[in-house]
Amino acid sequence: MTFPKIRGSGIRSMRPMSWLVSGVLVAAVAFAPAAVSGQAAKAQKAAPKADVALVAGATYIGEETCLGCHENKKGSGGLHTKAADAHTPAGGKGCESCHGPGSKHADDPEKVKPMQFNKVSASEASAACTSCHTSGEHAFWANSKHDARSVSCSSCHSIHSPKGANQLKEASQTKLCASCHQQIVNKITRFNHMPVREDKLACSSCHNIHGSPNVKMLRAGTNVDESCVSCHQEKRGPYLWEHAPVANSCVTCHDPHGSSNDRMLVAKAPYICQRCHVTSRHPPTIYDAFVQKTSTNANKITGRSCMNCHQQIHGSNSPNGKALLR
Ligand code: HEC
Ligand code: HEC
Ligand code: HEC
Ligand code: HEC
Ligand code: HEC
Ligand code: HEC
Ligand code: HEC
Ligand code: HEC
Ligand code: HEC
Ligand code: HEC
Repeated sequence: MTFPKIRGSGIRSMRPMSWLVSGVLVAAVAFAPAAVSGQAAKAQKAAPKADVALVAGATYIGEETCLGCHENKKGSGGLHTKAADAHTPAGGKGCESCHGPGSKHADDPEKVKPMQFNKVSASEASAACTSCHTSGEHAFWANSKHDARSVSCSSCHSIHSPKGANQLKEASQTKLCASCHQQIVNKITRFNHMPVREDKLACSSCHNIHGSPNVKMLRAGTNVDESCVSCHQEKRGPYLWEHAPVANSCVTCHDPHGSSNDRMLVAKAPYICQRCHVTSRHPPTIYDAFVQKTSTNANKITGRSCMNCHQQIHGSNSPNGKALLR
């Protein structure tokens, strides 16, 4: 019922007579690729349980037949092999839920191949999975940053030889992310970091890796602040006296992945403050630090620095809290 696609190996296996017929089909595919993928996508939406039909004219032969030749693919483990659940591949079409109907392949394994995940495009590979995984966590997969950049389900998951939970290709989530986002993952080893290393949080606590309607694939909130205060509720406000940058974005001052400064600040105090407050009355400038010992400003750069006095840095609810002192 899905649009039949002609694979290279399929063409090679055809007898000359069928070239004429298929030539027309090939031309149609070649000249209207956009329309074809559009149709395929629509078919997918309308019938989420659509068959993965890749080899034209092939029919389903059942898992037992596949295993007759591919014994080593048996029992790949995980929820997919739970035959009692009719929604799983094992409870349904078996191998062919993902690889497509295999009769022609079984007839001539050398020439006709069913779906080969390492040979098709990322979107074709993912389509084999999104024929079932369309809702919940996966509802926003289509056109998510990962999908858009040709990262497919099987870039992160391995069905036959997973190394970690959730059929991940790597032993842990952070190891997996590090294979592409090394710089971000490095940050969690910094002196101050989100407790990802300690297993209190995972990358997926804040991000929905499978796509989200929010910025940076964040799970909560349409902006960064809303994401932060979904856990740090006490920073939500509203405050009688707001501190402008806090209401604007937490990441102006904090690095959400980790930093070498206290409280994951993007710069040390007082510099973090002086990025903006260089012209105000009393804060010492960077240069005043040289005269720290004699300067009456010394108290502004020792200890918790500016926060010695400006304790309510995120905002104050005290009637006298204009200067964020209490
Ligand atoms: C008659 C034996 C036989 C049967 C039945 C069979 N296969 Fe195969 N299959 C092979 C052989 C042999 C190859 C390797 C062909 C080659 O290397 O050119 C192969 C290759 C494949 C490949 C490609 C492997 C790669 O390296 O990319 C996939 C995927 C596959 N089979 C899946 C299936 C599925 C799914 C079924 C059941 C629908 C099935 N096979 C049934 C013999 C069989
Ligand atoms: C025929 C439908 C179907 C297809 C096709 C399918 N899945 Fe699943 N998958 C399921 C069901 C059902 C579950 C169990 C989910 C549950 O109980 O919430 C599952 C579970 C999973 C899990 C969790 C596994 C575990 O053991 O914890 C992962 C990861 C997953 N699928 C990835 C994929 C990927 C990647 C593909 C494509 C290569 C894919 N699935 C194709 C139906 C399918
Ligand atoms: C849930 C989807 C799914 C099911 C069910 C499934 N496969 Fe696969 N298969 C894949 C994906 C994805 C790959 C790419 C490699 C990987 O993820 O491990 C693959 C790779 C393969 C390969 C290529 C060789 C390799 O190791 O990469 C063969 C052969 C194969 N599968 C055969 C089978 C057979 C036989 C069955 C049934 C017993 C089966 N598959 C069931 C998704 C599936
Ligand atoms: C960038 C890596 C990555 C990609 C791409 C990816 N996943 Fe995942 N997936 C993960 C990680 C990490 C987890 C475990 C953490 C979590 O639950 O979010 C997971 C969990 C899952 C689970 C089990 C938990 C759940 O959501 O129910 C399923 C099923 C799943 N993925 C299916 C898919 C499918 C289908 C695709 C493609 C449409 C896909 N994944 C693409 C990394 C990825
Ligand atoms: C505490 C929540 C949180 C955790 C945990 C977290 N992130 Fe993020 N991540 C964010 C926020 C917020 C942003 C947006 C930052 C911005 O806009 O400057 C972001 C941005 C990103 C970006 C995009 C960077 C860019 O420059 O656009 C990537 C990639 C990323 N995170 C990967 C990861 C990985 C990998 C992990 C796990 C090691 C992880 N994140 C853990 C909150 C988090
Ligand atoms: C196979 C490579 C690959 C893997 C593995 C991978 N990503 Fe990505 N990720 C990408 C690419 C490519 C982008 C797009 C970057 C861009 O557009 O600048 C991206 C973007 C992101 C973004 C930014 C989204 C945005 O809106 O800007 C986040 C957040 C993210 N990934 C989180 C993760 C997490 C968490 C993991 C681990 C579970 C992970 N990624 C694993 C390749 C990968
Ligand atoms: C999923 C929940 C969650 C989200 C979302 C979250 N955090 Fe956290 N945050 C935590 C946890 C848990 C800790 C560790 C608390 C502890 O160890 O007592 C923490 C600690 C912190 C710390 C203190 C670090 C230290 O040195 O004590 C800062 C600062 C922080 N988060 C800022 C942010 C910012 C900014 C955001 C948004 C980008 C954010 N958090 C989003 C859960 C979250
Ligand atoms: C103007 C810079 C700035 C902005 C913007 C900012 N913070 Fe902070 N944050 C700080 C400083 C400075 C500290 C250290 C306070 C101290 O040492 O007393 C801190 C400490 C924290 C802490 C740990 C200590 C505590 O008070 O619990 C958390 C959690 C935190 N911030 C969350 C957030 C969240 C969530 C946002 C966004 C709503 C945010 N911050 C925006 C400067 C900022
Ligand atoms: C991104 C720029 C930025 C950063 C960084 C920043 N502030 Fe502010 N701050 C502002 C703005 C804008 C206002 C509002 C000024 C106004 O209303 O005139 C403000 C207001 C204040 C006020 C109240 C001023 C008044 O007139 O009532 C204090 C006190 C203050 N900031 C202290 C700090 C401290 C301490 C830090 C370092 C932790 C800091 N700020 C970091 C931009 C910043
Ligand atoms: C010893 C206590 C103390 C320290 C340390 C301190 N402040 Fe203040 N700050 C005050 C007091 C008190 C006021 C209120 C003055 C007023 O209400 O007239 C104030 C007012 C401010 C204001 C608003 C008025 C103005 O001057 O524009 C800003 C901005 C400010 N401080 C920034 C900082 C920064 C940045 C630092 C760190 C470099 C810092 N303060 C360190 C006590 C302190």
